[in-house]
Amino acid sequence: MKTHNIQNNFVSSCALICFSLTATGHPPVFKQQPLPYAYDALEPYIDALTMEIHYSRHHAAYAKNFNESLQSLSDVPAKVEEIMKNISHYPVAVRNNGGGYYNHSLYWEIMAPKGGGEPSGKVAEAIRRDFGSFDAFKDAFSKAASARFGSGWAWLVSDKGKLAVCSTPNQDNPLMDIAEVKGAPILCIDVWEHAYYLKYQNKRPDYIQAFWNVIHWKKVNELYEKSL
Ligand SMILES: [Fe+2]
Repeated sequence: MKTHNIQNNFVSSCALICFSLTATGHPPVFKQQPLPYAYDALEPYIDALTMEIHYSRHHAAYAKNFNESLQSLSDVPAKVEEIMKNISHYPVAVRNNGGGYYNHSLYWEIMAPKGGGEPSGKVAEAIRRDFGSFDAFKDAFSKAASARFGSGWAWLVSDKGKLAVCSTPNQDNPLMDIAEVKGAPILCIDVWEHAYYLKYQNKRPDYIQAFWNVIHWKKVNELYEKSL
């Protein structure tokens, strides 16, 4: 592990050498990607103020704190997925903030204005194969989201094509080596109160019901095909 103090000493002694050392030794910087639509684009299902606070404060804080949690570490992979897969080897701040960074990045991507309806393509076939019907899948996913006690997430994951529904506490996710159910996340719902409280207050089931109207199934299918 390298510290800033060590690097600062290097700066004062030789800028050129320092540049080459820090260029290879510094952890990567994980940027918060732009929200792919306007804050009000998912109205009336997810309100603009919730989206603004969720993206610009909650997710931004996870991104900032994730990068800070990596600062004293060396040999950090450039792909966040690789960090998640070995999360048991990292400090808890990386687990909490890196999970928050990764989970929200996926959550924004799998929602879209004029989303909803039913899936098509390979993921639709896989849902029918592994759950019996789309309605049976909806029921399983909604129950996982409703039943998660406290803060957390519900997921649809693909283990090389085989689908499963699960939920995780806090900012954990199914990529993590500590997860009970592992796989490539292809759909998720944030059930922290900050995701719905302004519009739905304590009525989490109403938020989950509304979520079905904003799912970006084309993206979910892309993620499914990548997982094969
Ligand atoms: Fe959130």
